Amino acid sequence: MCLLEQINYQLILSDIYEEIANIDYEGNVANYIPQLAKVNPEKFGIHLCCLNEGNYAMGDSNEKFSIQSISKVLSLTLAFSMMGDKLWERVGVEPSGNPFNSLIQLETENGIPRNPLINSGALVISDILVSNLVNPKADYLSFIRKISGSDEIQYNTAVANSEKETGFRNTALINFMKSFGNIKNDPETVLDFYFHLCSIEMTCKELARTFLLFANHGTLTGTGECIVSRSQSKRVNAIMQTCGFYDEAGEFSFKVGLPGKSGVGGGIVAIHPDKYSIAVWSPKLNKKGNSTKGMKTLELLTTRTELSIF
Ligand code: DON
Repeated sequence: MCLLEQINYQLILSDIYEEIANIDYEGNVANYIPQLAKVNPEKFGIHLCCLNEGNYAMGDSNEKFSIQSISKVLSLTLAFSMMGDKLWERVGVEPSGNPFNSLIQLETENGIPRNPLINSGALVISDILVSNLVNPKADYLSFIRKISGSDEIQYNTAVANSEKETGFRNTALINFMKSFGNIKNDPETVLDFYFHLCSIEMTCKELARTFLLFANHGTLTGTGECIVSRSQSKRVNAIMQTCGFYDEAGEFSFKVGLPGKSGVGGGIVAIHPDKYSIAVWSPKLNKKGNSTKGMKTLELLTTRTELSIF
C-alpha cells in the first residue's frame, strides 16, 4: 500500500496483469534490428516505484531488456545538465507528428530536428555528448549507473553491432544533418555512440528506479544529488509528454495522461510527478513502434487509480 494516497498499487497492478496477461494483442517484435527479433514476444513485466519507497511488481519485472529509445531521455538529461539552454540552438521542442525515424521535416527545417526524442534529435544530442564527454561510452554508462543506483547496467554490444549492420536510416539521417552543419563530429563515431546508448539493458525495476528522478524534480531519491534543476526536470517531463511516443504522443496523453517514453525493445516508462514512476515491458509493438500491452497497462492504471497529471 502506498501510504501517501492510500492506494493499493499492488492490488491494482495484479488485477491489470491478470486481466491482460493472456490477451493476444496485435503487434510484432521489432525486427529491423535482428538481435531484437529474437526476444520472446510473450514477456510481460511491470514495476512501480513510489517516491515513499513502496515497490510493486508483476510478471517478468526482473528480466533485462533493451531500453532502446528510452535511453534518449537520459542522454537528453545529461546533455541538458552540461549545456543548459544552449542545447535548444541545435534541436527543437515541438512534437513531430511523424514516425521516429522520419527524414522529411529536416529538409525544410535546416537540419534542426523537431525534438530530442526522435532519432534525428537523439543523434544531435549524441553528437553534443561526443563533443563534451572525455570518454563518451564509459562516461555515459557511469552516468546511467549513478542515476539508476545500480552498477549492473551494461551495454549489449551484440545489439549495438546488430543495429549498426542494419542502421541505414540512422546513417541517412546523420549524413543529412551533417550536410546542414548540425553534426560536428565524424558521423560513424556518433552513430556508434548512439547505437550503444540504445543497447543499454535494464529490468523494469531498474528502469522505474532510474526514472524516479523525474518524479522527484531532478533530484536522486537515494543520495539527494541534484542531477538537473527543478525547471530542467519540468522541461524534460514536458518533452516526454508531447514527444515521447512520436506520432502516437497525442494518443498516449489522451489515454494515459502521464509523461512517458517508449522504446522498440517493448519497454515503456512513465512518471507521475511527486508520486511514482512505472516501467512496463511487453515486446509486441503496434504500428507506431510502441508496446501494445504496455500502453494498455498504463491506460488501465491511470483509469483505476483515477490519477493522472490532468
Ligand atoms: O534508432 C533506432 O531505430 C533504435 N535504436 C531506437 C528506436 C526506438 O526505440 C523507437 N521507439 N519506439
